[in-house]
Amino acid sequence: MVGMWFFTFAFLAVVSAVSSCSPSDHAALMAFKAQLNEPYLGIFHTWTGDDCCLNWYGISCHPDTRRVVDINLRGESEDPILVKAGRAGYMTGTISPEICKLDHLTNLILADWKGISGEIPKCITSLSSLRVLDLIGNKISGDIPADIGRLSKLTVLNLADNAISGQIPTSILNIAGLMHLDLSNNRLTGQVPSDFGNLKMLSRALLSRNQLTGSIPESIGYMNRLADLDLAMNQISGSIPDRLGKMAVLSTLNLDSNKLSGQIPSTLLGNTGLGILNLSRNSLEGNIPNVFSSNSYFMVLDLSYNNLKGPIPGSLSSAKFVGHMDLSHNHLCGTIPVGSPFDHLEASSFANNDCLCGNPLKTC
Ligand SMILES: *[C@@H]1O[C@H](CO)[C@@H](O)[C@H](O)[C@H]1NC(C)=O
Repeated sequence: MVGMWFFTFAFLAVVSAVSSCSPSDHAALMAFKAQLNEPYLGIFHTWTGDDCCLNWYGISCHPDTRRVVDINLRGESEDPILVKAGRAGYMTGTISPEICKLDHLTNLILADWKGISGEIPKCITSLSSLRVLDLIGNKISGDIPADIGRLSKLTVLNLADNAISGQIPTSILNIAGLMHLDLSNNRLTGQVPSDFGNLKMLSRALLSRNQLTGSIPESIGYMNRLADLDLAMNQISGSIPDRLGKMAVLSTLNLDSNKLSGQIPSTLLGNTGLGILNLSRNSLEGNIPNVFSSNSYFMVLDLSYNNLKGPIPGSLSSAKFVGHMDLSHNHLCGTIPVGSPFDHLEASSFANNDCLCGNPLKTC
């Protein structure tokens, strides 16, 4: 009987031990919640009880340590809570520095809530297990923490669509495993760090819609995993490095709406892996290199609004495919080549040049 009682007691002790999460994680999450206001979905109503690992919306714990490893809160997703509400999420408030006490955190996703403001807590760089930091689509301001490079396990850094200012910290170049960097649509100034090419694992570098100046670092041309480079809508000047046309897997290159000058490298137009190329609205000059081939496959080839002169290269008519092409607003002159890549194009693709003629413009 006594044995039975003891057994029951021991069993209850075990049950109560596993039914609460780390008190420090619990306190950190309560402090985090206290600085946020989510009026439409009520997601924080699930954040009650002692066990923050149990049914707290967006929170996951490690099964063994029962420490909080993920905060995954997305204001735009197919999640039932959003589908049921029939609206996108909205949240105001700030990110409490208390989250820096969640020292087992690997994913911090607080995305598309539109109204979260204030700065990124500086102490976030002490979360040494962090792999994903995704704060896209809020109103976050202030600088990127200067020592962001301490996050040595980071693979995804997404701060796009916020109001972040200051420069891209050079410490970012220390994040050896970074694969996805999205800082687009912020207020970043200064230059792209010249050793940007040190980020050898990077496959997407999205830096468009900022106020970046300086030139495109040569080192970028040596990034063998970079598939997508977007520097559009900045104030980047200088010429386009030749090396960009020799990159192993680059398939999308958007450099439009900058202050680039000089000639278009022939390597770039001859690169058969490049499917999307937008160089529109720069000050590029010289002829369009005559380097297209039967392996050229462009879904987008936008060279509009530059100072390009000379003819449309004849080799373009041998291209396997050209989807959207825009050569308008340049100083091109001569006969528009004939061939399948041109069959579907409208006059607007060739408008406002010096003296182009032939289908779809007037006959020569
Ligand atoms: C290329 O960039 C220009 C200027 O930023 C933009 O207006 C245009 O829509 C882009 N072209 C394509 C096909 O996306």
